[in-house]
Amino acid sequence: MSFAVLFTFFIVAASARHAGAGASSFVPLREAAKGIERVRIGAASPASLLANATSAYAKTMAQNYDLTTAENACKWGATEKSRGKFSFDECDAVRDFAHNHNMSFRGHNLCWGHYNPDWLKTLSPSEKRTALIEHIEAVVKHYGASPVAWDVVNEAISDKECDNPWCFKASDWYPDVPDFVYAAFETARKAAPRGVKLFYNDYSIANANSAKAKRVLNLVKNLTASRVIDGVGLQMHVSRGWENQNGNSDGLIKTMEQYRQLGIEVHITEMDVKNPEPRDDAAQTKTYVAALSACLNSTACTNFETWGWEDGHTWIGTSEHPLPFDKGFLPKKAALALSEALLNA
Ligand code: XIL
Repeated sequence: MSFAVLFTFFIVAASARHAGAGASSFVPLREAAKGIERVRIGAASPASLLANATSAYAKTMAQNYDLTTAENACKWGATEKSRGKFSFDECDAVRDFAHNHNMSFRGHNLCWGHYNPDWLKTLSPSEKRTALIEHIEAVVKHYGASPVAWDVVNEAISDKECDNPWCFKASDWYPDVPDFVYAAFETARKAAPRGVKLFYNDYSIANANSAKAKRVLNLVKNLTASRVIDGVGLQMHVSRGWENQNGNSDGLIKTMEQYRQLGIEVHITEMDVKNPEPRDDAAQTKTYVAALSACLNSTACTNFETWGWEDGHTWIGTSEHPLPFDKGFLPKKAALALSEALLNA
């Protein structure tokens, strides 16, 4: 970068902080969030896209985010493909990318009903329970103090009413291992160094008034009584306009407040906002800003993270244009408004 370009960048960045950012003076999210101690700004990424640290993808990501999560590389199906034989290379690569760029690393995940190796599904119930404990011990010990948090259990609770006490959904874990949630958290707590936060993570639980959110609260309360949990992850895979529906805006604020009262943290962990054709980027922007504002306004909320960050790489399909940056890595309206909200916080 020439001196003139660098100088212009600083002038633009400095004046944007005071005058409010316009399209021509985008302040990278990470820069805009400087000084906000409590909340990290994160994005998930596939390990493959981080392999070349000098790529535009890697550079833009490190410029904008101070936390990352491996999209798949730390899941069971990637780390223990054969029983007892651990392959940490890809998950390590995401952790190393984070640390090389002075970013936090978030561990995702230790126990889920998907993305598991085939061998796990063939075990007897008691063998499964043993495998769960051995997997969590091995992975948590390998990563030690490097993750700020682990999603210990992902998506355990049913979307619908059901007839088991906690309303667990049927999965690789339930009903085979009825105490899988407690076993997973207890094992993680014993294996993790102090300071590594243990999370329950799920979707459709961001509105405290919804039936699923109430089921999760019930489970989480029980876990807090045993001191094996430190936080709840709200995935927030939503569609534009989400904040205007079903009392979601107030419901999100209430969610943060109820977990604050329980003495635990909240992370927004996997946000994306579906925005299919005909696109309405203004509506998508409002949805992102509503979630970020709720997070900034609650002392419980310590992470605001999207699942990917640019429209070229997303699990829900590029035709949904769900992320804050476009596939050329340029900030969309959503990224501009998120930056402005961070600058104004
Ligand atoms: C998704 C990944 O993005 C996909 O690449 C993979 O095929 C399936 O998993 N909830 C979660 C994430 O907790 O781990 C999921 O990630 C998306 C939904």
